[in-house]
Amino acid sequence: MFQSERFFRESWPAISQAVESPADAARAVQWIVGRAGLKPGARVLDAPCGFGRHSVEFAGKGYKVTGVDFNETELGRARESAGAAGVSLNLICQDMRDMDFSGEFDLAVNLFSSIGYFSDDEDRLLLDRFWRALSPGGVFVLDTRNRDQCVRSMPREERQRFEHWTLRIENSFDPITSRWLARWWRLAAGADDQPGDLIGESEIRLYSAHEMRAMLRPERWSRVDLYGALDGTPFSLDTPRLVLVARK
Ligand SMILES: C[S@@+](CC[C@H](N)C(=O)[O-])C[C@H]1O[C@@H](n2cnc3c(N)ncnc32)[C@H](O)[C@@H]1O
Repeated sequence: MFQSERFFRESWPAISQAVESPADAARAVQWIVGRAGLKPGARVLDAPCGFGRHSVEFAGKGYKVTGVDFNETELGRARESAGAAGVSLNLICQDMRDMDFSGEFDLAVNLFSSIGYFSDDEDRLLLDRFWRALSPGGVFVLDTRNRDQCVRSMPREERQRFEHWTLRIENSFDPITSRWLARWWRLAAGADDQPGDLIGESEIRLYSAHEMRAMLRPERWSRVDLYGALDGTPFSLDTPRLVLVARK
């Protein structure tokens, strides 16, 4: 059991499709394909894949995609959306810490703050698994929150308004552990001044660029580049995102 396991198993499917946009995924995939110089028919690992928004995009471009996630609800949605798009995905229901690939992939992606769920040691071991999954010359893309930007600018509260409800996120950051604690609330339409219903609580370790880069062990990659978004924006203290692109 890890701190956010209950959140991701039970609460996440209630909000994932509201907060994770397929249009953003399409733009990100377009950039990743160009940045990685992916050849036609390349093999892609998307872990965790959630409801498959990136996986389906990659598959639509003719790549052979394996998606890993431990949430059956999300995988069911991925299966459905692949069917609707007329593409096929190899979906595996598994804890990503147990992935055991070896050289099968030309590209591996870990997107939308999908690292930091475990202890630092387990996060490091997860990065090892991505390295091992890649063939020589393969590319790993990781996209997560930029800890240093969060330290300076994390709002105590965030709100996202949807057609019939509002998502309110109560944030706190523990400077001793560098873990971001979030409480996710659902507010009914027109009830913005009410506390709302608690959807769940997550706790995620945030990493500075230098920590994440060191954890990746740059010496075993031929090259590691940093960006501030999945569109080539240069990385800085002020970019909300931290993107690493590493070539094996
Ligand atoms: C923030 S979402 C990102 C999903 C996807 N990368 C995207 O951008 O749409 C995190 C995902 O991680 C999955 N997850 C959390 N812990 C996991 C674990 N230990 N093993 C596999 N999947 C996990 C959750 O089920 C959820 O789908």
